Amino acid sequence: MKVLGIYGSPRKGGNTDQLLDKALEGARSAGAEIRTVYVRDLKMCGCIECGGCDKTGKCVVEDDMQTVYPLLEEADVIFLASPIFFYSVTAQVKALIDRAQADWAKNQLDRSSEEKMLKRGRGYLISAGATRGKNLFEGAQMVARYFFDALNMSYEGGIFFRSIEKRTAVRDNPDTLREAFNLGIKAVAS
Ligand SMILES: Cc1cc2nc3c(=O)[nH]c(=O)nc-3n(C[C@H](O)[C@H](O)[C@H](O)COP(=O)(O)O)c2cc1C
Repeated sequence: MKVLGIYGSPRKGGNTDQLLDKALEGARSAGAEIRTVYVRDLKMCGCIECGGCDKTGKCVVEDDMQTVYPLLEEADVIFLASPIFFYSVTAQVKALIDRAQADWAKNQLDRSSEEKMLKRGRGYLISAGATRGKNLFEGAQMVARYFFDALNMSYEGGIFFRSIEKRTAVRDNPDTLREAFNLGIKAVAS
């Protein structure tokens, strides 16, 4: 089973990086083959709405996103990790998600409505935010759900941590890291 971890924070070694490290460690311990994408290292733009993918399902913009498409398409399980920035995912993650429009177009071209019902894989969101509001993760979850839908994957929820701000916050809370490790195992086993 191929598991892809998408590191979506601009802050290297921060909370969502550490949580995703743990989830991937759990997945690896359950036998998965692990691949990773560090969104902060990609030189890429968001979707330019040129319509280039409409007839082929392939993005025509030549930048680092071209290295990400095969990883998205081959993964059986994806963990998307993003801190909450203004009640959503980070701008860097959103750029990657918008570029998944090409996968959405491919789905429309290649799959019948019955095939679209049968999801080909599973997606999970790992997130953390500094505040405690009830609706803190609603925006990011909605974005994640439709990202995975574009990839013809189901959205399976994830793990969400409130009141997490300084870079070391999750490290000071072993329960959060344990939860992430267990999510990695569960995602591969289900
Ligand atoms: C630009 C920016 C916007 C943020 N917006 C929110 C927000 O809307 N709600 C919230 O609870 N925390 C917000 N935060 C705090 C981060 O979500 C929090 O510090 C998180 O733990 C960072 O995760 P990381 O270490 O993986 O980057 C924001 C931080 C930044 C830098």
